[in-house]
Amino acid sequence: MRVVLLGPPGAGKGTQAIRIADKLSLPKVSSGDLFRNHQENDTDLGRLAHSYMARGSLVPDGITIKMVMEWINTQNNSKTFLLDGFPRTLLQAEALDKELNFDGGLDLVLYIKVEEKELIQRLEGRLICKKCQTPFHIHTDPPSKSGICNKCDGALYQRDDDKPSAVKQRLQVYANQTEPLIAHYRKSGKLEEINGQRSVSIVENEIISILTQSK
Ligand code: AP5
Ligand code: MG
Repeated sequence: MRVVLLGPPGAGKGTQAIRIADKLSLPKVSSGDLFRNHQENDTDLGRLAHSYMARGSLVPDGITIKMVMEWINTQNNSKTFLLDGFPRTLLQAEALDKELNFDGGLDLVLYIKVEEKELIQRLEGRLICKKCQTPFHIHTDPPSKSGICNKCDGALYQRDDDKPSAVKQRLQVYANQTEPLIAHYRKSGKLEEINGQRSVSIVENEIISILTQSK
């Protein structure tokens, strides 16, 4: 299975990607996590990406495509993977289609749909683990010990781009540059729309059921 999780900032892509990858033993990657790992390691790419991410803009396509393609090519014949947050421009989608073309392309694009008011509440209360990047929420999904990740004991922090001004910009960028992908994938018959307003476990069960039926 080659699957993409598509949806606005705060839709629950990262939350679901971790759960689904664990349950179905799918290799997964988040382009945002790759950039944040580079920032943590203070690489040139990390410093460059930070200048775009902190203000809520997209990192340029060429850099992003190269980074994600390198990850895909480290997977076994690129046969199975779950992508969280890539592609998010038409150019990225075309690059991915081209890369996978030899083998039938993507199998499924899961579009997680959530209303804007709910997205803002989720992002403004989100905490992320510095070590494993698992997301929590101060009200709806607090960690068992304050400031500490349940999974790996890493320290939790608030992302720079979860501050209100960057959230506003990310939602705008999503509407302008990423939303057109919904029509692109709908046209190819690969899009499944999921109501992401429901609880984490209900959304997870629906995704697992879609993935196991289409295997
Ligand atoms: P990225 O890290 O991908 O951020 P994003 O797309 O803005 O998405 P988020 O991580 O904010 O949201 P999510 O859908 O993962 O939600 P989560 O599960 O955490 O990208 C960051 C930046 O990197 C971009 O702005 C850009 O600069 C750059 N970048 C990355 N990819 C790029 C690309 N392809 N091209 C160019 N630039 C790129 O959940 C959010 C909160 O909600 C959490 O607190 C969680 O606990 C809670 N929650 C989750 N599900 C539910 C639920 N069902 N009910 C209630 N609460 C829930
Ligand atoms: Mg995420």
